[in-house]
Amino acid sequence: MTTASQNWWTEDPKLRMLFSVAGATGIRGLSSYFFTPKLLIGTDGVKALEGVAPTLSRNKKALIITDKMVRKLAEKVQSVLQKAGMTTEIWDGVIPEPPLDNVLAGAETARNLEADLLVAVGGGSVMDAAKAVWLNYARPDLDIRQVTPVNPDTLTVTPLGIRSRATMICIPTTSGTGSETTATAVITDGSRKMILNHPELVPDMAILDPAFTAGVPPKLTAYTGMDVLAHATGSVLSHWSNEYTVPLGYQAINLVFRYLPRAVQNGTDSEARYKMAIASNMAGMSFGNAAPGIEHAMGHAFGKIFNLHHGCAVGLFTPYMMQYVSRHSDRFLDLASYLGVTGADGREVLDKLVDLYISFMKSVGCPTTIEEAGITRDQLDKNFERLIDYTMGDVCTLMSIRPVSRENYRKLYLCAYTGEKVDF
Ligand SMILES: [Fe+2]
Repeated sequence: MTTASQNWWTEDPKLRMLFSVAGATGIRGLSSYFFTPKLLIGTDGVKALEGVAPTLSRNKKALIITDKMVRKLAEKVQSVLQKAGMTTEIWDGVIPEPPLDNVLAGAETARNLEADLLVAVGGGSVMDAAKAVWLNYARPDLDIRQVTPVNPDTLTVTPLGIRSRATMICIPTTSGTGSETTATAVITDGSRKMILNHPELVPDMAILDPAFTAGVPPKLTAYTGMDVLAHATGSVLSHWSNEYTVPLGYQAINLVFRYLPRAVQNGTDSEARYKMAIASNMAGMSFGNAAPGIEHAMGHAFGKIFNLHHGCAVGLFTPYMMQYVSRHSDRFLDLASYLGVTGADGREVLDKLVDLYISFMKSVGCPTTIEEAGITRDQLDKNFERLIDYTMGDVCTLMSIRPVSRENYRKLYLCAYTGEKVDF
């Protein structure tokens, strides 16, 4: 835990120093975990919950955490749990980009029910809120802002024991964040997006049922698909990646290129929805056990300030991240080879790889420049210092394979404004 004088664990100077070097192969080689929940995948996934849920709950009391937009899906889950003989309650109070007080309200509901199974039914905000609810419900003695993935003094994981209070199942209703499979939750604190991370926050089970993503409209399908592409691309180019995470990232990228256009064009294409649910989960496993790239630091900061959807924002910055880190690492050559991109030299391969990403993003209706996202140069300039402050403060900056300075971020945002090549 950090000292009480700090707000968030990511602001602890020791942890910031640790995270800037912890991805090095030598350090990762000493001892690395690979975290994943049990997966239940397929068109009858949620129906199978009837047999599975009682095995994760001693007292047979389940709180279903959701939001008002997908409450109907939560009710389907509730009827399955009731068939299994469980006492259930739905809390549909999650609000987008959940602030801390929203999380505390959810934990209070869990406390009143004495739930020992939490079932999150929703997109990234719902699953992230549910993880934070889980933590506060089980450990109200802790300030969730100060829960750290590792203890900065001992460099070991501090056990939280949250499963002694409840277990968790996540059922995603969008294919994007991969939150159902990661140890991470993004929480809003004031005007900032902050990251909660602890290995115990990996859910016990994730259910990937394509029927639960069938109603997502085309634009949101495209934006959440960009989140998948950003997770997988950032992860395979990261120095945190390893022999387990890279193939998962490649397969996620392959599935996005093949199936996202179909899912955007026809929301009822159940095969495309199914493949995108798997892609999202694989990308989640990939970056959750490695790290995303600086497209996430930029996207978190930019999305918060300019109110842009997370997936849209991180997707927009992905081609610029690829170019930036290519000066420091030739991993993009392996990615290009996987995607069948060739060229006379590294620069040509990189240019073609970036063109492939940009034309794909345009084909599914996503902006590839800040200008295309509807932000004027005047708006950018007025917010530039705060934008760079937030980006520098994001933990994804610390995990970049190529270090980033304030000046480099300024140049990257300017390249992304009109779509210029990153050649520094
Ligand atoms: Fe993301």
